[in-house]
Amino acid sequence: MRKKFIAANWKMNGTKAEVAALVSGFKQGIDGNGYQVAVFAPFVYLPQLEDSLAGSPIAWGGQNAHTEASGAFTGEISLGMLKDFSCEYVLVGHSERRTLFAETDDVVADKVAAALEAGVTPMLCIGETLEEREQGVTNDVCIRQLKAVMDKVGVDGFRQLVVAYEPVWAIGTGKTASPEQAQQVHADLRAWLAEADADMAAKLQILYGGSMKAANAPELLSQPDIDGGLVGGASLNVDEFVGICQAAAR
Ligand code: PGA
Repeated sequence: MRKKFIAANWKMNGTKAEVAALVSGFKQGIDGNGYQVAVFAPFVYLPQLEDSLAGSPIAWGGQNAHTEASGAFTGEISLGMLKDFSCEYVLVGHSERRTLFAETDDVVADKVAAALEAGVTPMLCIGETLEEREQGVTNDVCIRQLKAVMDKVGVDGFRQLVVAYEPVWAIGTGKTASPEQAQQVHADLRAWLAEADADMAAKLQILYGGSMKAANAPELLSQPDIDGGLVGGASLNVDEFVGICQAAAR
């Protein structure tokens, strides 16, 4: 039985005061009873999360990381540094990284491999653009993205990561994939993964992301192959995010 997993992706948002208010609200409203929760914060707020979330049921992580352990990579953050602040997770291949920062399937696969090597659990983000959906190539695109990672880390790697399916057209647009649309893709991807290893595919958490809110979470999360949510905009609001976690608890 796969546990539900709700993750907050704050993206490039927040101040120390806002982070403190969000954390305090999350800690009050989230018991993590029977489900998992993580917060992906901008790097500079990770020490604050380590101080305020240690001992709580809420884990935390970075939104990106470099593949190298150290060296002349000005402006980059290593996985070892994330570990230094007790990050359990790292987001890899978010569509904003792929499109705005030119991360190819290959780069994403290398980052997943580096995260696994470093002992930080990657949350691998995949998803199609609107154009690709309209062309009917949603599954092809998602499978291409998964395959790049599978070729590098194999089935064993997939046993140690989490996938987030995020249709790019649903991210930050207020347009959610319908529960049926999302379920269909999740089921198709799980079926593709099962061809490699049925046990791994049955255990892999596949989260949905794209305009998830407290109002639409119950229906999305009740789909058999949707194992949680990666939440952007609504994770910057305590009531919304706590509401989504409560839906996961049910
Ligand atoms: P959104 O973002 O919930 O604001 O659509 C999701 C994401 O980008 O992870």
